[in-house]
Parts: sequence; C-alpha cells; structure tokens
Amino acid sequence: MNEILRTISQRYSCRAYDGRLPEKEKLEALALSAVQSPSAMNRQPWQIIVITNKSFIEELDKEGMRILAEAKDKTAYDRIMSRGGSLFYNAPCMYLILKQPGTDIDTGIVSENIALAATSLGLGNVICGMAAIPFNGSKAEELRKKAGFCDGWEFGMAVLVGYGESENEPHTPDTSKIRYVE
Ligand SMILES: Cc1cc2nc3c(=O)[nH]c(=O)nc-3n(C[C@H](O)[C@H](O)[C@H](O)COP(=O)(O)O)c2cc1C
Repeated sequence: MNEILRTISQRYSCRAYDGRLPEKEKLEALALSAVQSPSAMNRQPWQIIVITNKSFIEELDKEGMRILAEAKDKTAYDRIMSRGGSLFYNAPCMYLILKQPGTDIDTGIVSENIALAATSLGLGNVICGMAAIPFNGSKAEELRKKAGFCDGWEFGMAVLVGYGESENEPHTPDTSKIRYVE
C-alpha cells in the first residue's frame, strides 16, 4: 500500500478533541490542500475560511445547539446530546468552505482533500454539515458577517480539525457495494 492509500484507509470522523490548536504550518498545509482540489472547468468555486478563534467557534456551537434544542424534530438534538452535547466536539479549528450555487460536488471534493491532508499529518478531523445550522438561524446575518461571508457566497461545508482526544476506528468498508463490469 502506498502513503495515499494508507491515509485513505486510516481516516475516520473524530468526535473528541483536546482543544490544542495545530501548528500553523499544518493549518496552512490543509488550506493549500483545499485550494489544490480539482473543480468543474477549473472554476474553483470556493472560498476557504480558517476559523481558529476559540470563542467564535464556541459561539457558533452554542447557537447551533440552541436552534437544535428548539426544533420540533429532536432527532439531531438527541444524536448530538448522545455524543456529548457539543456540535463541534471542542475542535479548535474549523475550515469553513463557502460555495456558489450548484457546486456541491466541488465542495465535497475540497472537504475530503482537507480531511485526508489532516489525517496524513496526524490530525483528527470530521466533515461537519451541521455547521450550517448557526448560519441559518435568527443570528445568521451577524454570524455570517463575523465569519467573513461575501455577497453571493453560501455555506458549503465545514471540516473540523484538531488533535483527537481519543482514537476511533475507520468504518468497515462494505465491498459488496463494488461491482466490476468486465
Ligand atoms: C457531507 C457530510 C456531512 C457530515 N456531517 C457531519 C456532522 O454534521 N457531524 C458529524 O459528527 N459527522 C458528520 N459527518 C461524518 C459522517 O457521520 C461520517 O463520515 C460517517 O459516519 C462515516 O464515518 P467515518 O467518517 O468515521 O468513516 C458528515 C459526513 C459527510 C460526508
């Protein structure tokens, strides 16, 4: 197995961080991996915002949990509560990917590039769609402004990164989903 295949096989969603901010060179390497992603017609329809402001991440977490707690459907709230009650698991860094309409696939590729780059550098990471929640509630305008959203750009995805407090196992790949047509 080569290094890339090993990294792919080792990646897992990390849902407990010790809060230590990774070294600046590692954070920059992840940001570079994001903008090295392929994109349809090389449009590069993304902006990458690296949030390391602890109190801002906590504010986003608190607002997201408030929205989930008030929602009629408690499924997501109960799921997060069963995982410790924090939307962002004490991660010290959030890569916020802004997208343009209709570019979900490009955004997904950026997310995975960041996740794999983080894994390769020994950093825990998790792709976090629920990070959209605080940017869509009653404080959306204020929080979007604080995060640096520009006009015409919307939440694409977030990837949380940091040092994992505990290790997890990668999921067991279901090879029955693979078919060869020869
Ligand atoms: C588009 C997308 C959104 C996700 N959103 C969340 C999320 O909001 N919170 C979370 O804890 N995990 C999130 N995940 C992680 C998945 O739950 C995880 O990838 C899946 O359970 C498989 O586990 P693994 O990543 O450890 O292989 C997301 C993954 C993807 C691809």
